[in-house]
Amino acid sequence: MSMRVLVIGGGGREHALCWGIRQSPACEYLFCAPGNPGIATIATCIQLVVEDHSSVVSFCLEQKINLVVVGPEAPLVDGLVDTLQSYQIPVFGPTKAAARIEGSKGFMKDLCAKAGVPTARYQRFTSKQAAFDYIDSEGAPIVVKTDGLAAGKGVTVARTVEEAKIAVIAAMQDAKFGAAGAELVIEEFMEGEEVSFFAICDGKTALPFTSAQDHKAVHDGDKGPNTGGMGAYSPAKILTPDLTDRVMRTIVQPTINQLAKDGSPYTGVLFAGLMLTQGGPKLIEFNARFGDPETQAMIPRLKTDLLTLLLAAATRKLDTVRIEWHDCAALCVVMAAKGYPDTYRKGTVIEGLHEAGLVPDTITFHAGTALNTKGEMTAVGGRVLGMTGIGTTIKEAQLNAYRAVAQVDWREGFCRSDIGWRAVKRGD
Ligand code: AMP
Ligand code: GLY
Repeated sequence: MSMRVLVIGGGGREHALCWGIRQSPACEYLFCAPGNPGIATIATCIQLVVEDHSSVVSFCLEQKINLVVVGPEAPLVDGLVDTLQSYQIPVFGPTKAAARIEGSKGFMKDLCAKAGVPTARYQRFTSKQAAFDYIDSEGAPIVVKTDGLAAGKGVTVARTVEEAKIAVIAAMQDAKFGAAGAELVIEEFMEGEEVSFFAICDGKTALPFTSAQDHKAVHDGDKGPNTGGMGAYSPAKILTPDLTDRVMRTIVQPTINQLAKDGSPYTGVLFAGLMLTQGGPKLIEFNARFGDPETQAMIPRLKTDLLTLLLAAATRKLDTVRIEWHDCAALCVVMAAKGYPDTYRKGTVIEGLHEAGLVPDTITFHAGTALNTKGEMTAVGGRVLGMTGIGTTIKEAQLNAYRAVAQVDWREGFCRSDIGWRAVKRGD
């Protein structure tokens, strides 16, 4: 079968997805909207106004697209999948109703309660006073979350009651997160190590994909403010096969079953952020998409044809697929613009990417890059590059990734020097 594929998005995650799809002999033509200069070396990048669903539909019909893969959460929460489905265009990603597991924390928590999924005890609030009373009665540490999407900044892990109340005031009174913070979820603080787990779903069947760990804090030693992720590695061996079974049985499958029962079956990748507590794995949050930068450390390990897998999920045939992995580890070091996650300069020139590309067992994934009018590679985003190393162990993958990093000549950029430290310490 020869397939014409459209990937929506233009970050490191989408570069990794395009890289994987390109490996497939079934991929006849690959488009990416908007893509980036790295993606442009393996796909045709096109400008589409993704918010205008009809323009995406017109493109798919004109170009006879056989599969659309939606990378980021915004178009999912916005219902792009529903529109494409109404035109019988196969699409990998959840519908608007199913994507509420990411778009609304309150919805996600209520769903978990209904399905019996282990997660932090919680309550939902639309009034400041009621939130204050709950914080007073529960005490600290406690976690305050905006109901809606707040670009990863809507969560406060409060060490004190005062800190929790300040977070409530910021969201509800000062509307720091706009409509996303009009409703809050306040929940129990969970202690343990965090791990990300991914399952591929077709509405009914859920297949375990793999695990990863990312580093959210901006500086070495997990210090400083949280970012979208400064690096990641896969697999996360701390999630043993036994724990993986348990996560599938107690978290993923009950969620998929409940969503199907409630009339919003889940198709796409279910990304479970887990806390490995003393009482077993508990859900921190769901995302309705692949992780970034986790994907950059997962896709290079995948042995199964990615395109066949995504198509099987989109067409409800996952029960015919087996997911296999190369016997290796991968680790992605994010290079970001100095100042990220706050303000940073745009347009600074990056050199050395050709040399980085020659380092064996590495892949350079682009995120916030663009070519300037002189044809130079420049940084235009916060997270700019994902230097990914592959190896038989996490340690070896780490060495390789940093070998590629060392070739990049970009004075206005930085990266953490300790990505993977937990796994390396454990000898994974
Ligand atoms: P989220 O956006 O929900 O993933 O939260 C961001 C980060 O806050 C997570 O990666 C955790 O490190 C932390 N976090 C969220 N909820 C909890 C919780 N209930 N207990 C402890 N830490 C949490
Ligand atoms: N790296 C975390 C995320 O993609 O949400």
